[in-house]
Amino acid sequence: MAKHKQEKQAPAVLPKHIGIIMDGNGRWAKLRGLPRFAGHKIGAKTFKTITRYCNQVGVRYLTVYAFSTENWKRPQEEVDAILKLLDEYLDDAENFKKENVRTRFIGDLSALGEPFIQKIRHVEEMSKDFTGLTLNIAFNYGGRDEIVRGVRKIAERCRAGELDPDSITEETISSQLDTAGQPDVDLIIRPSGELRLSNFMLWQSAYAEYIFMDILWPDFAERDLDRALAEFARRNRRFGGV
Ligand code: FPP
Repeated sequence: MAKHKQEKQAPAVLPKHIGIIMDGNGRWAKLRGLPRFAGHKIGAKTFKTITRYCNQVGVRYLTVYAFSTENWKRPQEEVDAILKLLDEYLDDAENFKKENVRTRFIGDLSALGEPFIQKIRHVEEMSKDFTGLTLNIAFNYGGRDEIVRGVRKIAERCRAGELDPDSITEETISSQLDTAGQPDVDLIIRPSGELRLSNFMLWQSAYAEYIFMDILWPDFAERDLDRALAEFARRNRRFGGV
């Protein structure tokens, strides 16, 4: 008898926007006696697998925390290794066209220098009309820094007489963030057992569900995303109501 092929069942309530703090690369490498860079390399692979899977199951927005405003404090060798992975990813982006993923960057890219910025803008431009998942890569990103940059733009408009401070609403702030026009994140996943937000999407996560998982990012697989999606669907989301 022919084997019945199991249909992939999307959970009843799918988050519109998932954020992932890709944590645990360093520990993964250390456990194997490898340099930290080796963990980031496998972490970058996991990032591609999970992005593809999110797109496949119908998630509309995914934001991954690739490099924080604080990560510059790491040894130069490690920073260079992560920048190299980013560079390779950008060079490879042409090959992912068929996946229909709209790729965007959030964070203060000015620290990256012109050649990098041009590559990033090229990938964003190339994919801007793609209709699948929107992928935000958070690079030199900090939630507080993002709010500060947004508030400065608002203050400038007030100074120029274009905006009345009394008319500032939550929407005014949202519209000046790097994620302007996108839905708030409704599920944040942090693997590696750490129970912190680490300055990730502070404004956008006001009503997010958090799922902390005891697995290191390089080991994170599709089945782990399935587990998180199932847990998300189980939670009773009340938005402060009853
Ligand atoms: C946190 O783990 C991870 C990072 C700071 C870097 C994440 C970067 C990648 C997965 C590669 C990104 C690639 C592209 C293409 C954008 P950690 O180093 O803090 O791990 P630890 O807590 O175990 O030390």
